[in-house]
Amino acid sequence: MKAVVINEFGGKDNLTLADLPTPEPAEGEVLVRIRAAGVNPVDWKIREGWLKDLFPHEFPVIPGWDLAGVIEDTGHSVKRLAKGDKIYAYARRPVIQKGTYAEYTAIPESYITRSPDSLSFEESASIPLAALTAYQAIYDAVKLREGQSILMVGASGGVGGFAVQFANLIGAKVTAIASEKNHAYLRDLGAENTVCYTKDDYDEQIQRIYPSGADVVFDLTGGDTLKSAVNYVKADGKIVSITEDPQPHLPADKGIRSHFVFVEPNVKQLDHIRELVDSGRLKTYLSSVHPLADVQKAHTEMETGHTRGKIVLNID
Ligand SMILES: NC(=O)c1ccc[n+]([C@@H]2O[C@H](COP(=O)([O-])OP(=O)(O)OC[C@H]3O[C@@H](n4cnc5c(N)ncnc54)[C@H](OP(=O)(O)O)[C@@H]3O)[C@@H](O)[C@H]2O)c1
Repeated sequence: MKAVVINEFGGKDNLTLADLPTPEPAEGEVLVRIRAAGVNPVDWKIREGWLKDLFPHEFPVIPGWDLAGVIEDTGHSVKRLAKGDKIYAYARRPVIQKGTYAEYTAIPESYITRSPDSLSFEESASIPLAALTAYQAIYDAVKLREGQSILMVGASGGVGGFAVQFANLIGAKVTAIASEKNHAYLRDLGAENTVCYTKDDYDEQIQRIYPSGADVVFDLTGGDTLKSAVNYVKADGKIVSITEDPQPHLPADKGIRSHFVFVEPNVKQLDHIRELVDSGRLKTYLSSVHPLADVQKAHTEMETGHTRGKIVLNID
């Protein structure tokens, strides 16, 4: 099978196309013909070796944690899914090695579920990691409620696009921080207010919207942005981040509760997300689709840190 591999950590020149043996499904596994793989910022961070102390890895590493495709074969004791099913998955395995930038993968059935009927493979592959991250931050961590206010910093990227829509579905009021070119896009997804982070009056604009702070701040950017984001949370509000633990940045004299989310595979949540998509309540936005052979271009684009929505690899 064709697959993208890296044989050592480093720059995007290390991403090469290789011919590898097609895996066979073991007991409890399915063999998936991958038709599209989502590209996420974590893919280039892994490629650079930034996560090598967090996860064990074995070279050659096939990068990628998102997939959409078709079940080609099933191993012994696979019950829920069958050959021919169109599926999608957030396929983060315990060891970084058997990723999704490949024509095939053999993977436990527990990672996989049916993909939205209404979407192409590319659209389905854009969803799992980013939408699960937004879901686990909004529903599980901060338990956002109808009528609450939520400020999202870095709202126009892969995770933010889903987060804005989940908050909107809950009936919360969203203020989305992003560059101006993305404001119409974010309002279309359901943001009530948009603020540009490069404007001189950025702080004043947020103060005007939330004179005593937002119920929830969702930080999707980290660094200095996270440090200033704590100033925009209500005294008894919540902050959730997906880039670093907000706790060290919190003022001791307030009752702010903080959460750091690291996304976990969750098939039940992917089933709920499929229902939302197929009933027209959740959309995905693709900024670009690249053939597998152009993986270096896809990483170049991802590394800008300014993607609107999602980048996907097409694996025909
Ligand atoms: N913990 C987890 O489980 C988890 C899961 C997924 C992602 N992540 C991490 O979370 C971050 C976001 O992921 P993503 O997939 O959404 O990334 P992405 O698709 O690259 O989007 C990043 C967005 O951030 C915006 N941005 C850049 N600089 C900003 C600033 N100073 N202030 C406000 N917005 C800014 C950009 O918008 P503009 O173009 O409008 O500037 C861009 O749309 C990444 O660091 C990623 O590694 C963590």
